Amino acid sequence: TMLSLENAKKLAASKAVDLHVNCGDLIGIGSGSTVVYAVERLSERVKADNLRVKCVPTSFQARQLIVKHNLPLTDLEIDRELDVCIDGADEVDCNLNLIKGGGGCLLQEKIVASCSKKLIIIADYSKNSKKLGDQYKKGIPIEVVPMAYAPISNKIQKAFGGVLDLRMAVKKAGPVVTDNGNFILDWREYNQDSDWDKVNTTLLSIPGVVETGLFINMASKAYFGMEDGSV
Ligand code: A5P
Repeated sequence: TMLSLENAKKLAASKAVDLHVNCGDLIGIGSGSTVVYAVERLSERVKADNLRVKCVPTSFQARQLIVKHNLPLTDLEIDRELDVCIDGADEVDCNLNLIKGGGGCLLQEKIVASCSKKLIIIADYSKNSKKLGDQYKKGIPIEVVPMAYAPISNKIQKAFGGVLDLRMAVKKAGPVVTDNGNFILDWREYNQDSDWDKVNTTLLSIPGVVETGLFINMASKAYFGMEDGSV
């Protein structure tokens, strides 16, 4: 029997929490559907094993999750260096470079990850890839200041080619607005053989680009729940 995606997410999340969270830890809590299982496992361990932790959210969704499970909440003003950040990803390549931001939370995710001693990625088998773009077809998310989205699209298109879509809201007329009041450009049909470190640096140098969903050399480890039930 093949493991469903949901069970695969759950397996990876539990394993990562059990292996990487210790008593007294300050934890960055990522965003998305896989992180839900990590917070559930954390909350189980807090109740069963008297685990003491404090959590820093990477989004409004993560904050609500932490609050829902009654886990202690903190922030980067109070706790500047975290022990571990646990987060999902849209795609993970063979060098542990990531595409993130499918859920629009890339900016705070990258900030919190950058303040953590390790970034542990949890995902189902569909996120496991050789080259960025092999699996995730919705494009590399780029968070931009709203008034600059059009010229930024042109600049990226000119520099690197591909197609940029302004991400549109589903249950509201108009663009998606991030937790930080910005827009998201999804960059598709880019060259998969790019030097991602260089591309990322170039994108970040365009005025109005706030952050990119390229997480290069940030992840320490990735746990994939596999179809056969292994991790
Ligand atoms: C949120 O903006 C993303 O970076 C998520 O980390 C990513 O989309 C993973 O989400 P799922 O766990 O729902 O796949």
